[in-house]
Amino acid sequence: MKPIVLTHGGAGRPTPDAPEPEGLRAELVKVCEQACRSGLDALKGSEAALGAVIAAAIVLEDDARFNAGTGANLRLDGSLELDASLATSDGRFAAVACLRATKNPVLVARAVMDTPHVMLCGEGATRFARQKGFPEASMVTDKALKRWQKARERLTSGNLRPYEQAWKNMQFHGTIGAVSRAADGTFAVSCSTGGTSMMLPGRIGDTPIYGAGVFAGEHGAVCATGHGELCIKRMGAWRVYQRIAAGEHPQKAIEAEVKDFPAPFEVGFIAVSKEAHGMGATEGYMPCAAVEA
Ligand code: GLY
Repeated sequence: MKPIVLTHGGAGRPTPDAPEPEGLRAELVKVCEQACRSGLDALKGSEAALGAVIAAAIVLEDDARFNAGTGANLRLDGSLELDASLATSDGRFAAVACLRATKNPVLVARAVMDTPHVMLCGEGATRFARQKGFPEASMVTDKALKRWQKARERLTSGNLRPYEQAWKNMQFHGTIGAVSRAADGTFAVSCSTGGTSMMLPGRIGDTPIYGAGVFAGEHGAVCATGHGELCIKRMGAWRVYQRIAAGEHPQKAIEAEVKDFPAPFEVGFIAVSKEAHGMGATEGYMPCAAVEA
C-alpha cells in the first residue's frame, strides 16, 4: 500500500475582531506539509504508522502558531492545560487530558500507551510526565496571552462571537492532528490541543476522547478538530470512520459530516483509508496537507 501522512492545523473561520493576517494560511499549510514529510521520514519499522503521526504532531506542537503544545490557549483563569491522544488500527489508544507545562503532550500520550491505562488527566498526568522524564516547560506565548486577554474582554463586555453565545458559548482554534497509512496497511492518528479560547480549568474537549477526536481501525484513521463539546456528542471521528468502513470515499465521508455539523459551530477532519484520503472543514477554513511517499 502507498504510505501517506496527512496533517491539519485546526478548523476555524476568521472573525471580524480577529481577521486572518494576509498570507498566514499559506504559511500554515507549508508547516502542515513539513509535518507530513517528518511523518513520512518516521514511517518505518514495526511501529511505522504510529511513529509517523507522532513525528508529524511534534512539528505542529512545536510551532507556536498552532493551538497545541507551545502556543496553546490559556484557560479563563490564565492556566494552561493540554490534551493529546494517539490511536492505531490494531486497537491501541492512549490520551492525556489537562496536562500542565509539558512541551510535547503527544509524547506523554505515547508513554501512557505503555501502561495498563488509556487516559491520564490533570495532576496525575503531569506527575506521570515528570516521572517519565518530560521536564516542566512554560508553554505560554505572548500571542496566547493576548488571545486570553481578548477572550476575557469579550466575556466581560458581552461582545461575544456567534459561537461564543453559550458563555454565552466558547471558541476553539488550531488543534493539530495527523493520520497515516503505512505500507503494510496499518493506520494511526494523533491529535493535540490547548482547547478553546474560552474555557474553564478542567475542561476536556474532543481531542483525547476515543471516537470523538480520533479513531483508527482496519479501514483507516480519522482525526477531528473543531468545537470539542459538539464533536464529543456527535462522536465525530467515529462517524466519519463508520462511513469509510461502509465503503464511502474519505472525502465524501468528511464532507457529509462537516455539512451536518450544526451552525454556528465549526468542525474539520482529515482521514485516510486503504485506497484514498480526504480533508475538509466548515467553509474550508483549516490549514492541512497530504504527502505520499
Ligand atoms: N477540538 C479541540 C477542543 O475542543 O478542545
